[in-house]
Amino acid sequence: MVKTKIAVLVSGGGTNLQALLDAQQSGALTAGEIVLVIASNDKAYALTRAANAGVPAVVCSRKALGSQAAFETAISQALAEHGAELIVMAGFMSILTENFTSQWPRRILNIHPSLIPSFCGKGFYGLKVHEAALAYGVKVTGATVHFVNEVPDGGEILLQKAVDVLPGDTPEVLQRRVMEQAEWKLLPQAAQMISEEIGREKAE
Ligand code: GAR
Repeated sequence: MVKTKIAVLVSGGGTNLQALLDAQQSGALTAGEIVLVIASNDKAYALTRAANAGVPAVVCSRKALGSQAAFETAISQALAEHGAELIVMAGFMSILTENFTSQWPRRILNIHPSLIPSFCGKGFYGLKVHEAALAYGVKVTGATVHFVNEVPDGGEILLQKAVDVLPGDTPEVLQRRVMEQAEWKLLPQAAQMISEEIGREKAE
């Protein structure tokens, strides 16, 4: 079957991008191929990971482009140039509006570092999610892969995995455990699932 072309959107360290690249290498991600990385800023270490893997990368910065519309147009152009069929948001910290998301129904995945609907939505990203979980005192947290629509963290849930909160956890320690035990497994698994689905649709 022809592989589904995947674009990965990143903003920071890119450990989830690395998990996808590793899954491609190990044969856990066979139905899809990462053809493009789009970073929301030129400082993202994820860009180095893309270069090391020989994957083309572009920077689309909302700030540099001057408006949300120009930002979304630049992303759309890059996606079209590389023939992307599936978008995976892997630590992408910019908001995409309905103008963009409505063009890609069930074709944008996002990983969020909590069990949605806890600790999600506007203002909950990165370490802040784990700070909020610890402040609330939950004993179980986790990660969620969901489809992206116009509601921040509000699209249909695809996969979730629970992770224990342990006594003495700091936000950093908890973040690392959630990544290791949940995020780096769930995201490649979800990318494989939806790549297969797209492949089947194309074969029909
Ligand atoms: C990950 O924990 C990801 O789930 C989270 O940011 C981190 C990015 O790490 N995403 C969000 O909070 C999105 N709302 P990474 O750059 O090393 O993959």
